[in-house]
This record gives sequence, structure tokens and C-alpha cells, in this order.
Amino acid sequence: MSESDVAISRQTQMGAVEIGRLAYGCWRFSGSTVPAATAKIEAALEIGANLVDTAAIYGFGGEGFGGAEEVLGHVYAANAGLRERTVLVTKAGIHPPVPYDSRASNLITSCEGSLARLRTDVIDVFLIHRPDLLASFEEVAAALTQLRADGKIREAGVSNFSHTQIRALQSKLDFALVATQPEFSPLAIEPLQDGTLDIAQEMNLTTMAWSPLGGGRLTPQHQPEAGTQEARVLAVLEAIAAREGVGVDHVALAWVLAHPANTVALIGTQNVARIRDSAKAYDVRLSRQDWYDVLVAARGAPMP
Ligand SMILES: NC(=O)c1ccc[n+]([C@@H]2O[C@H](COP(=O)([O-])OP(=O)(O)OC[C@H]3O[C@@H](n4cnc5c(N)ncnc54)[C@H](OP(=O)(O)O)[C@@H]3O)[C@@H](O)[C@H]2O)c1
Repeated sequence: MSESDVAISRQTQMGAVEIGRLAYGCWRFSGSTVPAATAKIEAALEIGANLVDTAAIYGFGGEGFGGAEEVLGHVYAANAGLRERTVLVTKAGIHPPVPYDSRASNLITSCEGSLARLRTDVIDVFLIHRPDLLASFEEVAAALTQLRADGKIREAGVSNFSHTQIRALQSKLDFALVATQPEFSPLAIEPLQDGTLDIAQEMNLTTMAWSPLGGGRLTPQHQPEAGTQEARVLAVLEAIAAREGVGVDHVALAWVLAHPANTVALIGTQNVARIRDSAKAYDVRLSRQDWYDVLVAARGAPMP
């Protein structure tokens, strides 16, 4: 590593718990058989991705509400000791057809449903999936406080909250939030500008970046339309990937991990070989120039 490279650690802390900087996301997980799903979790653990991210809503539109948690619960039940080897994150507050519902009663019921589906006694980190504009921060905080006091959750966090919403919720709690989960990738650069990554550093939150590959658009197979943000970003990622002997997906993951807001990349592939290959992100040597070249391509304009 040269002096101009950006250091990327393999591990970090979320609250008091040690986690890998790569983590496994279960959004696309429902429909997996238990052996297939077990192989994915084991592959993630092999590369140190011990944080497993899911949500009550995952599976809706396919197997149904709770479908992804149900699969993960069967995986835990079938593999003694596996639950303890993972740091389990789930989310609540999206209940179709109403967009968002973070009333205290709903958050508590949702958490209890998740515990049953996941076949576990406690959620390590419980996130509010999206801000419910009709639920007061006081009510959301009361629900989180109750769940923590009852031992149903260890820690709490948020997802898709603005920095002002995070601060408002924190002001009503007498324990510290540990995580935020925004969309963040070379195709989703708003968190760099809108305060999301600043509040994470201010409050020592772990930043779990969702869709770090733009949901599959930052991969070797993707054919972007000429002249688009995707095409500009992929051209820069390809040049770095060729130099480093890895795929564009690995460079994109490294780019997310290079930011100092305690970032973790939630990988979403359902392919066991790709899960294992994700660890190549740790080998990418990104210079500061590389990192800014990707950002300039994403912006479509030079840095001011
Ligand atoms: N909080 C929120 O609101 C929110 C929203 C969305 C997601 N999330 C979390 O973020 C996690 C990750 O999101 P994501 O699944 O969108 O992540 P992603 O890693 O950006 O995208 C995953 C997609 O990319 C494809 N892919 C990955 N590597 C590939 C490669 N080398 N070649 C071709 N295709 C490739 C995968 O297909 P294959 O399976 O075929 O490899 C999959 O369809 C989710 O599981 C969830 O935990 C949170």
C-alpha cells in the first residue's frame, strides 16, 4: 500500500459488537431452499461478513410479507450455533398497503413477529425501515425503549432517515442509536452531500450502505446506455478494475468502504461464488485520485 492509497479495514464496530465491513443482505433471499440459503450465509461468514441484514417486509410481492425472515429462521433452526455466529439486523415499519406505520404498537408487534419468524429470542440491531411522517419521534423512541427494556432487541438504528430525523429521534432516547442504513454507492452519492454520512460520523453510527452495486448495475455484465451516469461510472471503475485484476463490482464495494463514515457494504448477490468473490474488495488499492475520479464520473462534473 502506498501513501496515497485509502486504507480499507476488514472489520469495524457496530455499537459494542465487531462486524465485517462486508455484510450480507437478505432482500432477495425469499424463495431460497434452506440448504441453498444456508450455503449463502456460510459463504458470507467465510469472508467475515457476519452481519446479516433482513426486514419484515422482505418477501412481499413474492412469497409474502416476512418471507425472507422465515427462510433465515429455518436456516438458524437447521444449523445449531449459526445464530450466535451472526449479528442479526432486521427492520420494521413498512406494512402494505399503508406505506409506513411506526406507531409504537405496530413496531412492537412487528418485532415480535420477526422474532417468531427468525426463531430467535433477540434482534441484535432493530431498524426503523423508513421514516413514518405521522409517527412522532417520541412515540418511536418509546417503542424502541420498551423493546430494549424487554430484551427483545439489543440495539436500535434507522434506515432512510435524514440527518435531522436521526438527531430528532436520538434526542428522545436515553441510549445511543448504533446504525443508519442509507442507499450509498457510486450511483447513489446523495449521502455525501445531504448530511447522512456527516451525522454518522458525529454520532458514531455504523453506515450500512444498501444496494452498493446499484442493485446490479455496477457489475461486469451490465450494459449501460451511452452517455448516462452508469456509463461514466462504469468506465472509471473498469479502468481501476483492469489495473487491480478484479471486477468492477469489487471496485465499487471498495469505493463504498473507503469513506470514513464507518461504512459497511450490504452485498445482495444470491450467487455463492459471487459472495465469496466479494472479498476481493479488500484487495483493491484505491488511491485518493481513484476515489475522486469515481465521484467526478458520478457527478458528471468536476469537484468545485
Ligand atoms: N433499507 C432499505 O431500504 C434497503 C433497500 C434495498 C436493499 N437493502 C439491503 O441492501 C441489500 C443489498 O441490496 P441489493 O441486493 O440491491 O445489492 P446490490 O449488491 O447492489 O445488488 C445485488 C444485485 O446485483 C446482482 N449482482 C451482484 N454481483 C453481480 C455480478 N458480479 N454480476 C452480475 N450481477 C451481479 C445480483 O444478482 P445475483 O444474485 O444473480 O448475483 C443482485 O441482483 C439488501 O439485501 C438489503 O439487505 C435495504
